[in-house]
Amino acid sequence: MALPDSFIQELLSKNDIESVASSYVAFKRRGRNLVGLCPFHGEKTASFNLYPETNSFYCFGCGAGGDVITFIKRIENLDYIDAVKFLADRSGVKMPEQTHENDQISRLRLRILEANREAARIFHAALYRPEGKVALDYYHSRGYTDATIKHFGLGFAPAEWDYLLKALRQKGFKDDELIAAFLAARGRNGGTYDVFRNRVMIPIIDIRGNVVGFGGRVLDDSKPKYINTESTLAFSKSRNLFALNFAKNAGRELNLCEGYMDVIAMHQAGFTNTVAALGTSFPEEQMQLIARYADRINLIFDADGAGQKATRRAIDNLRKTGLDVRVVTIPNGKDPDEFIKNNGAAAFKLLLDRAANAVEHRLLELGKNHNLQTSEGKLAYYHEAAKLLAVLDSPVERDLYAGRLSEILSVSKEAILQEIDSVRQKKQRQEIKQQLPNLIRQEKREMQSVNPDAVKFERAAAAEESLLGTLILHPDYIRQVRATLPAEQMMTEFNRGLYQRLLDRDRQGLLVELAFLAADYDEAGMAYIARMVRDVGDRIVNPEEVARCAAVIREEYALRHMNDPSSASDEDIQAMMEALRKRKQ
Ligand code: CTP
Ligand code: MN
Repeated sequence: MALPDSFIQELLSKNDIESVASSYVAFKRRGRNLVGLCPFHGEKTASFNLYPETNSFYCFGCGAGGDVITFIKRIENLDYIDAVKFLADRSGVKMPEQTHENDQISRLRLRILEANREAARIFHAALYRPEGKVALDYYHSRGYTDATIKHFGLGFAPAEWDYLLKALRQKGFKDDELIAAFLAARGRNGGTYDVFRNRVMIPIIDIRGNVVGFGGRVLDDSKPKYINTESTLAFSKSRNLFALNFAKNAGRELNLCEGYMDVIAMHQAGFTNTVAALGTSFPEEQMQLIARYADRINLIFDADGAGQKATRRAIDNLRKTGLDVRVVTIPNGKDPDEFIKNNGAAAFKLLLDRAANAVEHRLLELGKNHNLQTSEGKLAYYHEAAKLLAVLDSPVERDLYAGRLSEILSVSKEAILQEIDSVRQKKQRQEIKQQLPNLIRQEKREMQSVNPDAVKFERAAAAEESLLGTLILHPDYIRQVRATLPAEQMMTEFNRGLYQRLLDRDRQGLLVELAFLAADYDEAGMAYIARMVRDVGDRIVNPEEVARCAAVIREEYALRHMNDPSSASDEDIQAMMEALRKRKQ
């Protein structure tokens, strides 16, 4: 993705990281840097650092890091080009004309959106034709009104191999475009056919109103029950929530259901603040999305085993985002769709209002495991419940639930609070002991996935990264290093690529700075690079230190290429001897 440097430069000059990040994070100044609570993971002590001098950020808690574009990518949930557009909009910088290559990709993306929109129309229209009567009957039998069908743009893909294909070809769409849209697929013999056949069709609409994909459900009990659009240029499952386009305007409280059908029933019953995850998994990105649109979330999952497990996982993860999480338990293991059909919206409203929040939910669950008629059962429950409540950081909340527990157990609240306190103290001591190695391990793991070679060539990698961090901070050293260190001598692939990029940019007279790398690296890559820069940080850099790093890299390279001494130059052999000498010491 090549945007002209001059444009990026202007963009950066008008969007310094301090002013950009300050609208998301409350910072305190600490020396030349700023610190605040990390917006990318839940934390209570500030470990999110801004470095205005290098226009970069780094979180010591979760390892997130990078430049201002990476920051916007993550916090606004955007891809690279949309993040750049976001910053351009924010600061009134005009986007440059698109290059040919970008042009083709965004053109295809637009065509996919157009095809989806047309497809949604065709599927919807099919409902009111003879071939769609089965589907219309199906919707009606589920209690959906015509107004609901229209509101959601529900439709039907008839049981033919080319119903949609024929219609869209007529409108000028190419087969390749429809395949890219996941509307059509290519068979083994090279023919093209409709992906969705004989299914009721539910369009997925993003917050901008684009039809980005579809869920297609069978009309009977055959398998698979759903076919869903997989990722396309216009759609990513994990960055969307079904019906968020409607729900985002319904206030700061959201209901999260398991399925499309539940959401539709909920909206029809007046609960227009309801969304569903797409598919069964519930990735981090979706939680961030929810946290952007809501302060409180009611989880409405099936009471079956899988549903409960999902609820537990979702609670833990959502709590981390700082949301007020409630759990709605529907009696008799029904889903909301069925419950509303049988009991009406008013009854469901009651359930919502009574929605136990996460702690209460678990307190009650825990109670079910013990026989509270016996003193052993009571005692066991008392200890386990205290452990559970010890997790709460807010004294008010602890007090509240200690009160509830004291009623259930008829034990004094003070005694319960004391028990909770002692659990907390024990836990705190343990946590401090445990957390550190965990964080280090996690960082290591992430690092390994970006640059796996670094484990194999530890000494070389350390020198490479120290050198690269230096070159990004002080590009004036690039000349010196270029003369003595050819790119192929870097031992680790990631660092070699980065070094080559820096050399190339410098040779072309382009600026070398963190933000210019954001186009070429993903978030993990940028974090890796930001860490190199951070580690160089305030160290005083001098030519000797730079030369030392380069020398270490050459030595390590020479060591690995000793197998073939015939081709070694005198200098190589000297470096080799030097490396060996150092190894022995
Ligand atoms: N799902 C899926 N693929 C499947 C089954 C389920 O993608 N084979 C996803 C769908 O998003 C679905 C959700 O998981 O909406 C919940 O599944 P389920 O409760 O089985 O479906 P419902 O939509 O509730 O359908 P129904 O009420 O008709 O059973
Ligand atoms: Mn259902």
